[in-house]
Amino acid sequence: MAARIQARAYVFQDMPPPGSPVPMPTAQERERIARWAREGAPLCADAGAEALPGDGGVDGGL
Ligand code: HEM
Repeated sequence: MAARIQARAYVFQDMPPPGSPVPMPTAQERERIARWAREGAPLCADAGAEALPGDGGVDGGL
């Protein structure tokens, strides 16, 4: 599925569909999706990114 997400959101850029109510990802966000897919689609808590909240960010930081 990560390969399909990379294809649709980064390679073809037809997701999210143009005209849908969600905000379009920026080029930088599409790059980030592609990098996530290339690096094996790690789960958030394993991503080794900047300091994560103790709960792994499952609540979106709220
Ligand atoms: C960043 C946001 C999104 C990503 C990464 C994404 C990704 C995907 C993926 C991976 C599939 C599976 C089909 C395949 O294997 O190629 C898919 C299908 C689909 N998505 Fe999205 N999607 C996003 C947002 C949306 C939104 C906002 C809508 C509608 C408003 C939408 C509508 C659909 C529909 C109708 C399908 C099935 C038909 C098709 O494959 O074209 N998606 N999407």
